[in-house]
Amino acid sequence: MNVIEKLPNTDRYARCVQTSKRVRWDINRDVIKGRRFDAAHKFLPDGLSLVDVFTTLSADEKRFVSQIQGRTYANIFGLVERFINAKVLELSHEHWFGDQIALEALVRFSDEELKHQELFRRIDAMVGEVLPDGYRFDIDPNGVARAVLGKSTWAVLALTLDIELFTQLHYRESIEPNTGLSELFKDVFLYHWKEESQHAILDELEWVRHDAGLTPDQRDRAVDEFIELVAAVDGILRAQAKSDADYFVARCGRTIEGSEARAIESAFLVAYRWQYIHSGAQHPHFGKVLSSLITEAQGQRIQSALATLQ
Ligand SMILES: [Fe+2]
Ligand SMILES: [Fe+2]
Repeated sequence: MNVIEKLPNTDRYARCVQTSKRVRWDINRDVIKGRRFDAAHKFLPDGLSLVDVFTTLSADEKRFVSQIQGRTYANIFGLVERFINAKVLELSHEHWFGDQIALEALVRFSDEELKHQELFRRIDAMVGEVLPDGYRFDIDPNGVARAVLGKSTWAVLALTLDIELFTQLHYRESIEPNTGLSELFKDVFLYHWKEESQHAILDELEWVRHDAGLTPDQRDRAVDEFIELVAAVDGILRAQAKSDADYFVARCGRTIEGSEARAIESAFLVAYRWQYIHSGAQHPHFGKVLSSLITEAQGQRIQSALATLQ
């Protein structure tokens, strides 16, 4: 248990507001700083891109894989932050006439997610300037957000905590020794993590608060909805793994066919499932909060569903 976990909830919201004010950053002044991407660099660290799973590729080809995944990273975050922000704004209503510090914490959370979406749109465009044409990301963030927000708040907050905790692990991977990793992309991880750390605390506070008002039957249905949401995320990842593998094959400069092409698509999917599902689901704090809210049987249902996504 860390220091913040021991504080009463009102103080935890207040601590998030204080930290949010202290770490606040600006896209141009702090992150981009007039820089551009350089195609000689890797964009995602090896611990996220899992380039070693791409066993048939040369070092240059693995670098291209990390660059494609970097662009997809920006697009996936742009997508998930759309529904996260909408849910946070919705939850903020419950504090309108209550704890004004909690309200301020959620308003700042929302403001930061709008800024992050802008950052990731910029990163997508900037990566596009240095990579070959033909990259596609055809998933509509608004369509996904509408589908996600059709599920119960409990399920959406479970998925949100999973996502916001894995940004911490992603930052840690980015500061591991990684030869040739883009300094600009490292800063994206650093600055995103600085604000996401507060979001993960707020997700937990809101999730536990909301959970207390549910009946056992409502919670049991919400567990199934969380499983459905993870399956929906996996559907998005499968589609993008195919799109990114096709783009890689078309643009890598040599002929790739048959079993090698299929292996590359599977490797993209393994990497994306690690980045966007398992790195959060396996986070110890996610397991701790989740297991404090559900029964052992419900935990088993979630574990079996996650085990099918290996
Ligand atoms: Fe964010
Ligand atoms: Fe966030």
